[in-house]
Amino acid sequence: MKISILYFSKTGNTKEMANVISRGIKKVSDFEVGIFDLENIDDDFLLESKAVIFGTPTYMANTCWQLKKWFDEGNKYNLEGKLGAVFSTAHYAQGGGDIALLTLINHLMVKGMIVYSGGSALGKPFIHLGPVAIDENFEKSKKMFEIFGERIALKTKEIFLNKNI
Ligand SMILES: Cc1cc2nc3c(=O)[nH]c(=O)nc-3n(C[C@H](O)[C@H](O)[C@H](O)COP(=O)(O)O)c2cc1C
Repeated sequence: MKISILYFSKTGNTKEMANVISRGIKKVSDFEVGIFDLENIDDDFLLESKAVIFGTPTYMANTCWQLKKWFDEGNKYNLEGKLGAVFSTAHYAQGGGDIALLTLINHLMVKGMIVYSGGSALGKPFIHLGPVAIDENFEKSKKMFEIFGERIALKTKEIFLNKNI
């Protein structure tokens, strides 16, 4: 099964976390992961993916405009029925990383995706909307991002394995 991670990253933080999430996904068997920045998407891989994870830096307490633009113009991609999840990076805990996630979730809903956070009910680490990495905890957050990837992969299997969707 395939999972795509799509991100925008100007200074590398969001890209780094995309790689960490990929490590978590690969802890679960049977997954191929495609990591794509917005300029270099493998259309076939994306459309064959059962789950798509979106990553954004926080800009002005919201999703970066580059990813917002991608969604606003992105009628080319039919993501209906795929599992969708989101993550962000930000300077500050109070910098709006969660709002960046909510804006992305909004777009996932419009696309008809099945949205999954990684599940705070699963216990520690408690992931409410998706993981947010802030500067002062960046390295420490990597464990959470890896677990997030693993949880998304497990949920993807649970939903799609042996189902003809
Ligand atoms: C134009 C711009 C706006 C930003 N606005 C915020 C913000 O509102 N809140 C915040 O916490 N960080 C803000 N940041 C910091 C970035 O979200 C943070 O450095 C992020 O990790 C960068 O991701 P990247 O390295 O993948 O590009 C801003 C950065 C830029 C360039």
